[in-house]
Amino acid sequence: MKRKLIGLLLCAAMTATMLAGCGSKEEAPAQAPAETEAPAGNDAEAPETEAPAASGDVITIGFAQVGHESDWRTASTKSCQDVFSAENGYDLQFVDCDNDSAVQLEAVRGFIEQDVDYIIIDPIVSTGWDTVLTECEDAGIPVIVIDRTIDDSDKYVSWVGSNFKTEGLAAGEWLKAYAAEKGITEINALVIEGSTGASATIGRTEGFKEIADREGWTILDSQSGDFTQDGGAEVMESYCKSYEGKFNVVVCQNDNEAFGAMDAMKQAGVSYGVNGDVILISFDACSAGLEFVKSGDINADFECNPLAAPFVEEVIKTLASGGTPEKEVYMEEHWFVNEDILSSIEVNGETQNLTVVTDEIIAAQY
Ligand code: AHR
Repeated sequence: MKRKLIGLLLCAAMTATMLAGCGSKEEAPAQAPAETEAPAGNDAEAPETEAPAASGDVITIGFAQVGHESDWRTASTKSCQDVFSAENGYDLQFVDCDNDSAVQLEAVRGFIEQDVDYIIIDPIVSTGWDTVLTECEDAGIPVIVIDRTIDDSDKYVSWVGSNFKTEGLAAGEWLKAYAAEKGITEINALVIEGSTGASATIGRTEGFKEIADREGWTILDSQSGDFTQDGGAEVMESYCKSYEGKFNVVVCQNDNEAFGAMDAMKQAGVSYGVNGDVILISFDACSAGLEFVKSGDINADFECNPLAAPFVEEVIKTLASGGTPEKEVYMEEHWFVNEDILSSIEVNGETQNLTVVTDEIIAAQY
């Protein structure tokens, strides 16, 4: 596709979006772009993908990915590589930024130099973007943001991802209801946060803390495990020493951290999960995480859907045909538990089902 045309379409799309006056992320309902069939795992019906390159032109896409820190990230990368394949008429320039913001900015500038047709960014951190996004705009290259948000610039055409604050609120509301069912009256929680400055970390931390403050729970400590298994193990090892016998809840902000935290608790002789002394909460709900929910080691796992690429392709198709894509596209998410004692919880005034994990759900998950 020719640069000039994309530039014109981008300007038109941005202007239309500004005129429409999009609501803020916190105000927008966590609504899936496609109909889903609960209570299966991640069964959000992806949009039909008839590649916009059907005309014969190869579409070049630069994708600045966060890194390879988690199972979730692997699924996200695969989703993009599957959709934006050579077979589908794309030339995907993929950069694994290894969780380094400077590398990510450089990758985006490299895409501008290469004169790609579209740029996809999963921002490692939520700030520091306005200058490079202005450069993309000046070059007439539409930017599509996925997963994490950019908070200091709106110079992108569309964002496709999850409502991280809702995920944190859901974890808190579930814990409140679960504790009531189990007759637990005091909550002393330890949080293992994701990477510092990532909107996934910020949203989940804020959401859970909001419920903790409302309910008068104690958050004993909250430290970053960098969304990795090693990070989760390291933080949990130190928590087990510093807070021995003082905590009854551990909140890990992704599955890989939970895997590390379980190893550390095992080492320290702390029992966790459905039959243990410590309630273990996780986020992502990748198949490896759901295995541990099914076995009862993780009590509850709040999904973060990594399969954004089909929705991104929809955005590209809309742009290519001169349309204005949605500024914000929220992915459908499910909440998974081990025990069949609570059927639903209410978050942000909306009731959402809790799904008891089965082998079929694990097999269907990423
Ligand atoms: O931004 C999404 C988060 O990043 C996922 O929860 C985590 O697994 C990943 O590394």
